[in-house]
Amino acid sequence: MSLDPDAFRAVMGRFASGVSIVTATDDAGRDRGMTVSAFASVSLHPPLVVMCIDQTASMHDTLTSAQYFAVNILASTQEPIARRFASTGAQQFEGIGYRTGENGVPVLNDVLAFVECKRVSSTTAGDHTIIVGETVAASVRDARPLLYYRGGFAQLER
Ligand SMILES: Cc1cc2nc3c(=O)[nH]c(=O)nc-3n(C[C@H](O)[C@H](O)[C@H](O)COP(=O)(O)O)c2cc1C
Repeated sequence: MSLDPDAFRAVMGRFASGVSIVTATDDAGRDRGMTVSAFASVSLHPPLVVMCIDQTASMHDTLTSAQYFAVNILASTQEPIARRFASTGAQQFEGIGYRTGENGVPVLNDVLAFVECKRVSSTTAGDHTIIVGETVAASVRDARPLLYYRGGFAQLER
């Protein structure tokens, strides 16, 4: 018997997470980004991270073929950026401050932290693809995180 999708969502929605924008450059050299909460650390030696990307996402093929990507962890003030990058749009980066990181991928301004990663594997898992990257550059700053919980954005109370 397979689990009802709503029951699965109800459980997983109670696992509070941060919110990130995964960025990369597509084959045509265009900067792309998408909002991702399925992001976690995997290993310290070497420093591996993982993210899970919907196979129907317009950025899926870019992320499974890109040599490098960045994961920009959002600060509490950046909910509008999370909303913007959760839908397709040619003007995703318009009005948003960013620079090109050491490996040619976009890094957003004023994020809580970011990692730049070299992709090491892409593995199909159900309707998503698990992408593992090795961190090659990273930075943090002091700010509060943006959270995602039970289908909505949230803030730390402490
Ligand atoms: C808070 C939040 C977290 C999300 N996390 C993920 C995720 O971990 N993996 C994923 O594939 N899509 C995730 N999405 C959905 C994608 O951001 C969204 O489907 C994608 O940007 C749509 O792109 P497209 O319309 O260009 O296909 C998330 C959306 C939001 C708002």
